[in-house]
Order: sequence, then C-alpha cells, then structure tokens
Amino acid sequence: MKTRLVIGILATTLAVGCSTKKDAENKAPPVAGSNTPTPGSNAAGSGAAGSGSAVAEAPKPDPALMARGGYLAKMYGCNVCHVYFGEKGPDFSKVGGGGLELAEKFGTWRGPNITPHKGSGIGNWKVEDIMAAIREGVRPDGSKLYALMPYPNYHRMTDDEARAIATFVANLPEVDHAVAPNKDLKLPQIPMPKPENKPIPVDDKVKHGEYMVTLMHCNNCHAKPGKDGMPDFVGKPFSGGMEFEIAFLGEGKLVAPNITSDAETGIGKWTEADIAKSLKTMMRPDGTIIHGPMQFYQAGWAQLEDKDLEAIAAFIKSIPADKNKVAKSTFKPKGPPGPPPTGAGSASPAGPAGAGSGSAAPAK
Ligand code: HEC
Ligand code: HEC
Repeated sequence: MKTRLVIGILATTLAVGCSTKKDAENKAPPVAGSNTPTPGSNAAGSGAAGSGSAVAEAPKPDPALMARGGYLAKMYGCNVCHVYFGEKGPDFSKVGGGGLELAEKFGTWRGPNITPHKGSGIGNWKVEDIMAAIREGVRPDGSKLYALMPYPNYHRMTDDEARAIATFVANLPEVDHAVAPNKDLKLPQIPMPKPENKPIPVDDKVKHGEYMVTLMHCNNCHAKPGKDGMPDFVGKPFSGGMEFEIAFLGEGKLVAPNITSDAETGIGKWTEADIAKSLKTMMRPDGTIIHGPMQFYQAGWAQLEDKDLEAIAAFIKSIPADKNKVAKSTFKPKGPPGPPPTGAGSASPAGPAGAGSGSAAPAK
C-alpha cells in the first residue's frame, strides 16, 4: 500500500462515536462513529440523500434499529475491510465505500463497495440479500463469496442482528466508487446451510462470549496457520502463528500470538480484566502496545458494552491451553509507536491494511 492513513478520521471513530457534533461535521460518520448512524439517523438519513437508493426494503428505518446495526457493524468489523480507499488512502467517513486492496499470499483482494450506490455499490440489493451475503456468503445472483469475507463466522449471527446490520448497510450514504472484482484468489468459497438463528446465550457468560468472539472473527488472525502459512479454516482457532507484513505500517513481521490459556506460550497468566482492557486500549498488562491490525478494530471495540466485553474476556480465558510457541513480532511501527493518536487531523502510517489483514491474511 502506498498511501497513508488519515488518522484524524479514525480518531473521530475512536472518540467514542457519540460525538454528534463530530458526526455532523463529517457528512458521513464512520461505522465506528455510527451509534448515531447517519446524519439525521431517521428515515431521512441516506434515503433522502440518495435519490431512490436501495431503501425500498426499509423506507423508514427505525432509528433504534439503525443505531443497533451501526453498533454491531462496528463490533464485527465491517468498515475495516470495506473501508473507502481512494487515491488519498483510506477515508473512514465514507463508510462501506470499498477499495482497500492488499496483495497476499493467496492473491490480491479488494474490499467491495457495499454502499447503496446503484452503479458501483449494492444499491439493487434488498435487506434480505445483504443478510444472505453476510451469513451465507452468496450474492443475489447465486454466486459465492470468497471466505475472506468472514461469513463462516457470521453464519452464527441471529436474524435480529443480521437484519439490524443489513438495514444499517442498506441505508448508508451512497458512495460512488467502482471497485474491481476479486478474481482467482486461492481461497475457498464455502457453501453454507441456512443460518440456524439460535438465540444468543446471554445468560451464560462464556457462551455469550463465544458468540461475540465468533462474530468478531478473532480466529481469522489468531488461528494456527495451515500449510505454507495459508489461512486454515478448520485448524486450531486461537493457537497463533499467522504472520503479517504490512510495509506501510512499519517494518518487520507481526505475528498473531497464541491466545489460548497456556501459561507459557499463551496468555494464561492474564486475568479476565487484563483481556478486557487489552481489547479496549490495545495495551498488554505489562503496558506494551498491541500493534497492527487489531488497532483498526479497536475503534469499535473501545465502545463495547460492558456485558459484551466481560463475556468476551470470560470466553477467551476459558480457551483450553494449547502449547504452541510462536515467534515474537519483530514489527517496528513507522510512525510514533502506539495506538493512533486521537488528535484530529494528524496523519499516521498506521493503516487499514491492518484492516485488510483483518482478513485471514497471512504475510506475503
Ligand atoms: C475480513 C474482511 C471483511 C470483513 C470483516 C467483512 N467483509 Fe464483507 N467482504 C469482504 C470481501 C473481501 C468481500 C468480497 C468477496 C469476494 O469477492 O468474493 C466481501 C463481500 C461482501 C458483500 C458482497 C458485496 C458484493 O458486491 O458482492 C457484502 C454485502 C459484504 N461483504 C458485507 C459485509 C458486512 C455487512 C460486514 C460486517 C458484518 C462485512 N462485510 C465484513 C471482506 C470483509
Ligand atoms: C486482523 C487480525 C486480527 C484480529 C481480527 C484479531 N487479532 Fe489479536 N492480534 C493480532 C496480531 C497481529 C497481534 C500481535 C500484535 C503485536 O505483535 O504487536 C495480536 C495480538 C493480540 C493480543 C496480545 C497477546 C499477546 O500475547 O501479546 C491479544 C490478547 C489478542 N490479539 C486478542 C484478540 C481477540 C480477543 C480478538 C477478537 C476479539 C483478536 N485478537 C482479533 C491480529 C488480530
């Protein structure tokens, strides 16, 4: 990637999203900021803005549903991979505008434009079509998506959550941005059965956490890699070892750690509170910074509701120990080390390649 991330916008997303003033300034609030979904988060929102956009299914989206969809889209990372990426690099305010492009071992992939723009986005899709893409990896024409789009994870999503996210996506402000299709990726296109729509086991902390972690697709990066470092969709989901090289973020390799409860090679010595804090702040208990792709999810994760965050930590803590020593990251960030600054307007080399690698993307 040649371009630098305009962190100011990300900063907005980090600024806990509820700043309606900021939202108003950015015509289109980033997904991360979209607890207030769109300017005028009622029906008028994007429906009015885009002449006859794909809101046929939801002409007057319920503001509560939109807000819920915005929250979930943030937690589940939609705008990490579907971020607008133009000549000037990523623009997190054009939520879902697509164009992030990353060369990986399995081929060069791009995040499509998922805004309701009719020409270059998915403006002709119904809410149900978007739900099917999210959970089953199919397009309305019946073609399959590469499993880089984490539908094997999203398959577990309830109907209610899928509908909230799909409604939110269908009502995003349109972005006119043509993105070339993905071709010849060495990734599977996995057939999925119809989603089961099992309720979220909210009364069982660990199971609730498992639900969240599945949808937050931690395993896309923390799984033990398969042959030749390729993503492994059936292997050990949290044993670590996947490598990421993201040149424009910095030099060296990022290695996804073992996050099982093994005390020596995993994070068995961390408490639940340590885990929760690390996801919110990208700091380890020893005060060091977690670099790389996770920082782009953090914009959403920093806003996790306590109940969700505690459940996630409880589940991660419960993962059986797997002794698997992975190499240490040798990564040296280009910019000032640390999480993206919150000062608006500051540029930083930290970029959504991280985002990109948010995919099950191993280093080249
Ligand atoms: C890890 C990266 C990643 C994440 C996270 C992700 N996507 Fe995707 N998504 C992709 C890629 C890559 C494709 C294209 C796959 C292909 O070309 O086969 C895609 C395809 C899609 C499509 C079909 C677009 C088209 O024109 O065919 C929709 C709709 C979609 N994603 C919505 C979402 C939503 C909603 C979320 C969050 C719940 C999400 N995605 C999260 C990477 C991601
Ligand atoms: C896009 C890829 C990606 C995703 C998704 C991801 N991680 Fe990470 N994670 C990494 C990488 C890479 C590192 C190492 C960063 C470094 O070396 O500074 C890391 C580091 C960590 C660490 C620090 C562990 C240690 O021993 O230093 C924890 C804890 C962690 N991740 C938990 C999670 C959890 C929980 C999720 C899901 C909610 C998750 N990660 C999702 C890539 C990812």
